[in-house]
Amino acid sequence: MYGFKASSQMWTSFVLFLAAVFCLFTPAWMVKHENFKTCDQSGFCKRNRAYADSALEKSSWKAPYNLEPSSIKFSNGQLSGTVLKTVGDSSETVRLPLTVSFLESGTARISLDEEKRQKGDITLRHDSKARKERYNEADKWAIVGGLAPSKGAALGSDADAGTTVVRYGPAGKFEAIITHSPFGVEFKRDGSTHIKVNNRGLLNMEHWRPKVDKEKKEGEEETPAEENKDPALDESTWWDESFGGNTDSKPRGPECIGLDISFPYYEHVFGIPEHASPLSLKETRGGDGSYSEPYRLYNADVFEYELDSPMTLYGAIPFMQAHKKNSTVGVFWLNGAETWVDVTKAKETANPLSLGIGSTKTTHTHWYSESGILDLFVFLGPTPKDIVKSYGELTGYSQLPQSFAIAYHQCRWNYVTDEDVMDVDRKFDKAKIPYDVIWLDIEYTEGKKYFTWDPLTFPNPEKMHKHLDQRERKLVAIIDPHIKNEGNYPVVDELKKQDLAVHNKDGNIYEGWCWPGSSHWIDCFNPTAITWWKGLFKYSKFIGTFSNTFIWNDMNEPSVFNGPETTMPKDNLHHGNWEHRDVHNINGMTFHNATYEAMLERGKKGELSRPFVLTRSFFPGSQRVGAMWTGDNEAKWDHLAISIPMILNQGISGFPFSGADVGGFFGNPSKELLTRWYQAGTFYPFFRGHAHIDTRRREPYLAGEPYSGIITQALRLRYQLLPAWYTAFHEAHTQGSPIIRPNYYVHPSDEKGFAIDDQLYIGGTGLLAKPVVKEGADSVDIYIADDEPYYDYFDYTIYSGPGHKTIKAPLEKIPLLMQGGHIIPRRDRPRRSSGLMRYDPFTLVMVLGKDGSATGELYLDDGETFDYQQGAYIHRQFLFDGKTNFLSSVDIAAEKGSKGQKYLKTMKDVRVEKVIVVGAPKEWKDKSSVVVSEEGAKESQRKREVPFVWHEGAKGQADWAVVRDPKVEIGKGWRIDFS
Ligand code: NOJ
Repeated sequence: MYGFKASSQMWTSFVLFLAAVFCLFTPAWMVKHENFKTCDQSGFCKRNRAYADSALEKSSWKAPYNLEPSSIKFSNGQLSGTVLKTVGDSSETVRLPLTVSFLESGTARISLDEEKRQKGDITLRHDSKARKERYNEADKWAIVGGLAPSKGAALGSDADAGTTVVRYGPAGKFEAIITHSPFGVEFKRDGSTHIKVNNRGLLNMEHWRPKVDKEKKEGEEETPAEENKDPALDESTWWDESFGGNTDSKPRGPECIGLDISFPYYEHVFGIPEHASPLSLKETRGGDGSYSEPYRLYNADVFEYELDSPMTLYGAIPFMQAHKKNSTVGVFWLNGAETWVDVTKAKETANPLSLGIGSTKTTHTHWYSESGILDLFVFLGPTPKDIVKSYGELTGYSQLPQSFAIAYHQCRWNYVTDEDVMDVDRKFDKAKIPYDVIWLDIEYTEGKKYFTWDPLTFPNPEKMHKHLDQRERKLVAIIDPHIKNEGNYPVVDELKKQDLAVHNKDGNIYEGWCWPGSSHWIDCFNPTAITWWKGLFKYSKFIGTFSNTFIWNDMNEPSVFNGPETTMPKDNLHHGNWEHRDVHNINGMTFHNATYEAMLERGKKGELSRPFVLTRSFFPGSQRVGAMWTGDNEAKWDHLAISIPMILNQGISGFPFSGADVGGFFGNPSKELLTRWYQAGTFYPFFRGHAHIDTRRREPYLAGEPYSGIITQALRLRYQLLPAWYTAFHEAHTQGSPIIRPNYYVHPSDEKGFAIDDQLYIGGTGLLAKPVVKEGADSVDIYIADDEPYYDYFDYTIYSGPGHKTIKAPLEKIPLLMQGGHIIPRRDRPRRSSGLMRYDPFTLVMVLGKDGSATGELYLDDGETFDYQQGAYIHRQFLFDGKTNFLSSVDIAAEKGSKGQKYLKTMKDVRVEKVIVVGAPKEWKDKSSVVVSEEGAKESQRKREVPFVWHEGAKGQADWAVVRDPKVEIGKGWRIDFS
């Protein structure tokens, strides 16, 4: 019997292994739809849609949730009370504790729980050890600040009968009108309504109830399941649910939470990544070009994902912005369980308050998650900048990466030996192509056992690291969360011994299949597991790693080859006996966090440098600890095209350090596609070339001319603009701003540009790029939103907006414009890696706006340590005033810390070597010098004349001028007088 079991297990394992290998090597050209649920196949999704249908169809519909007026209390910025849910036609009610918190930041938070579950007053089925409460710890992982209660929030005395009004926010301009019966909240800013919660009555909290087994009397006919039944109450998936041969045991029965959120007179909604879909979210239930499925958020390893689809992908950020002319508002649905979002738009008659301007469409959204409490944050803007800032205050701002991390990364599955790595490195140098990081995928390990090196192929990791370090280059090695289940592997032995892995529903260690075959999964919800994980990265433990080794976390959705929907069973148990169902979308982030902490602590005390950890799976908060990429795309033009809206969406959703595999992961790109992809990749905040194990080698030097040369130019452009990129990263780190920005974000009043998602601005630089994403294209149409002059980056051709303009774009040309009014910092000397540019001089490109003025910023630090937190940085503003003709550099450092002076000293020889003026006034034609003065200079040096040359632009191109070698120190105050 035992023997039979073992051998049948072996067979199953073998078959699964073959299936995995088959998936890996067979060029299947489509996502396997059958592996992933549609809404109809997900019980609670189907029920919520049915609930919405019956509610919206019946004019007599009365939402069964009422806030008990006598329960309402208000103190310290928080309203609390009890919502009573009436069950069916009965008089039975279910008590749902409510809090509405008003925060100092102007954000409001609505939380709703279920008293019975909260008190643990329920019975679990199947002798389950699972927790009885609705999951209430998502905030523990996602929220790091911004929860201070509003001091000014107060109850309004003028509430209509049946409502409670709270005034809050800046100068008390925000208002929450809480309707008691049915319960709902209307959010107003400056007297007009921007968000309505439960206005359509779709609030649906499936309360706990015991399973009643209906006995079938002899001879009695079974009632057809759907007959006479409200599909919203379809019980067939309440107590267990099967999909693809797996059955979810659901010990707590049905417990979903659903809610409608409407944005009156807002036609566009953005956000809720990750989906391979346009930036402006489409309707999901009817409407022009709409989807038929809701947007799904259930982190999954979706093989060969489909484009223009609401299907789920690897990460989830349930944060949405609604935008209309001059107003942006947002909501953040904090829930870690499987979530779906329906989007519909309804025509409105013109809004009398909008005086005929603006949208006449309202966007309705309907959100539903499988489990957990309701926890909703509401942001009232009014600008996109305000929204991302408030969201960042809660979930944390994007990590400030080391400077190498924003340069170019070279990856493939796999560089096969340490010699191979060094060979690729030498070839980059020989071809004079800059790069900073080379990556190792899973094959470097011995038999997919993480924290080991294959002794045959990587016998000398130390030599390899030293070799890379000569040019300040780094190595990234992959470490996944599945731990090979094999004897004599100390990592798995310890994992088991200390009981640190995820458990199955019976409380035993969970076993599934991934790259190594049979595996267990570390449970990073467990603090002891995190401590243990940190230990594994110590230099003394992960031998063969050094200070230039960094980490890539993949497969952390988690991907389980033989699991339901390629992931873990929902009834698996995590630390604290929370079911996997409750925390699925948070899971990847906990692993990413643990690795970040491990990297932080791997060195000796006092040797802190900023970790770099790439993740595939993510949740709100992941931005604090690293970068993400969009997973397994394909070497096809449409995959190149979709990468732009996907990355723009990451940016406005609080996780801007993002990129897509350059060249496409699956398949072999044509040389043209590869070249265009590098040109587009130069605008990804995270810029990495990567390829599947089955593809041909495609390092940039292999493409041959003219391709290699053109790719090299694209890479050099990235390196040249690194100071501007780093400044944009700093802004993301301190204010939550996107690093690449869509049109609506930069021009919130330009209605024509709201849906544009194929062009981008880099930070606040005014650089506007429109990557070529079509085969054979030799021009692009770029959209200019305003009436500033825009100049071609390379030849200063002038484009005047507003409107669409055609830019010639033969293969060697990247369509990149500079908006007038900006000063762009650059470093122009080509180097092999960004580390070698540390003390290079700067060039400032001053692009004059229509009023003849320009401003710009530069943020700079050691690009490596945390000393910037103690003032070791330079933050300058450059201002050119078209009236006085002075260009000055002003210190805008927020605070001076103890390490500031020391850092400035290390930078004292770093100078500005050139100022280029684009759109230089004709009056400067005969000028041959300008006068430079510098803070703290000796008397004799206080005013220096430096050479100035003015150039007349060719037809259609701007006049330009150059200040030659003003030699002013980058970290100091100075002025250049052009008058
Ligand atoms: C899946 C990742 O998405 C891909 O980038 C990687 O190369 C493979 N796993 C192998 O590790």
